[in-house]
Amino acid sequence: MSPQSDLAKLDLDSLWHPLTQHRGLEARMPREITSGEGVFLTDAQGQRVLDGVSGLWCVNVGYGREELADVAREQMTKLAYLPSTFIHAPAALLAGKLLDMLGYAGKVYFTSSGSEANEVAFKIARQYQAQTGSPGRYKIIARYRSYHGNTLGALSATGQAERKIGYGPPAPGFLHVDAPDLYRSNGDAAAHLEETIEREGAETVAAFIMEPIIAGGGVLMPPDDYLKRVREICDRHGVLLILDEVVTALGRVGAAFAHELYGAEPDILTLGKGLASGYQPLAAMVAKQHVFEAFEGEPDELRHLRHVNTYGGHPVATAVGLRNIEIMEREELFDRATKTGDALLGRLRGLEDHPSVGDVRGRGLLLGIELVEEKAGKTPLDAAGVASVVGRCARDGVIIGKTTNTTPGYGNVLILAPPLVLSEDESDLLATTVERAIRKELPTSL
Ligand SMILES: Cc1ncc(COP(=O)(O)O)c(C=O)c1O
Repeated sequence: MSPQSDLAKLDLDSLWHPLTQHRGLEARMPREITSGEGVFLTDAQGQRVLDGVSGLWCVNVGYGREELADVAREQMTKLAYLPSTFIHAPAALLAGKLLDMLGYAGKVYFTSSGSEANEVAFKIARQYQAQTGSPGRYKIIARYRSYHGNTLGALSATGQAERKIGYGPPAPGFLHVDAPDLYRSNGDAAAHLEETIEREGAETVAAFIMEPIIAGGGVLMPPDDYLKRVREICDRHGVLLILDEVVTALGRVGAAFAHELYGAEPDILTLGKGLASGYQPLAAMVAKQHVFEAFEGEPDELRHLRHVNTYGGHPVATAVGLRNIEIMEREELFDRATKTGDALLGRLRGLEDHPSVGDVRGRGLLLGIELVEEKAGKTPLDAAGVASVVGRCARDGVIIGKTTNTTPGYGNVLILAPPLVLSEDESDLLATTVERAIRKELPTSL
């Protein structure tokens, strides 16, 4: 948008944008977006752009769903707010629905963001250990390249150096192991986890947290047996398994929950973005029943969860979340994500003949394209090269994402995560634009 417009001036004068260097921002102002419909956003100049990243990977049912606006309006009129210490229908119904979908008994705690869901997961893990005879278990093991949120606990679990620089020291008790990287064959990550638990002393480890597929850290796919092996390792050592499915649930990778695809269940699950498709700020932590049972006792024993969020279980957010799931089921969006994603992945793999495309990977509608300087050494492409592809796509009307420096020097993965309603034609437009941008921006004569 023009930096001279009143709105741009007000924005520059007043708003602190995330992940943005403000110096010189007038010369590269973000677009002003005025509306959204399906997979498209429209900017203030009336130009339509295909949103290939669903906002921040959250608008799973696409933009412009009047049905969700109607539900929100009805709920606001009827009961706009209630603390979760009371009972109201939308939160109870949504919690019941999630447990139904998961197929196991447990308890759901709602928050307004993925970071807060992970915070409560960490507190529950530590309190669980303390209340089941292991008060010395406080360490949380996480993985390099993963993202778990921006609050200090979740940031301490995050394994991305750039996000943490300047905000230290991190909360004590968080440590990291490698995640499997199939493209770079970095060894047996599950064995390394077990070794780390043993070296730290299992009696000091409360939980292990992981994203089933690392999303923002570069769409890192696990080997098929990795999650099952992690589950066994956690069980062997009395360590709780927390799965952060803030990106992968609901439906992003072609199943309601990614762990369904890998045959192992978590003790504690967190989810967010797809839960209300971004129509309301809504996230959740789900603890299995055996975890919850460790919190039972008399009030003055202080065994209960002493944690509250003003907006946790918000009636409007949970009503919207419930309808969002109804829409996904009615339109069979999980299957659709599998079909569209398989076709898109197959097509984009055609890019692997290009000298700068090292690897194309993903599952459902979470796809990554790893760009390299040269294939043999797999040297990551520099930031300018990656930005030129993202920039050309944007000029050609398609928004795609990329990793930031999750591991220093590895900001080289393009990320696609379009709304699950993406049609064949829209998928074709997305693929064509990305292919053209890579072929035009990156020389083939390396
Ligand atoms: C895997 C994962 N966990 C947690 C979060 C934090 O969610 P929020 O930004 O809603 O706090 C994110 C956000 O991108 C994420 O990608």
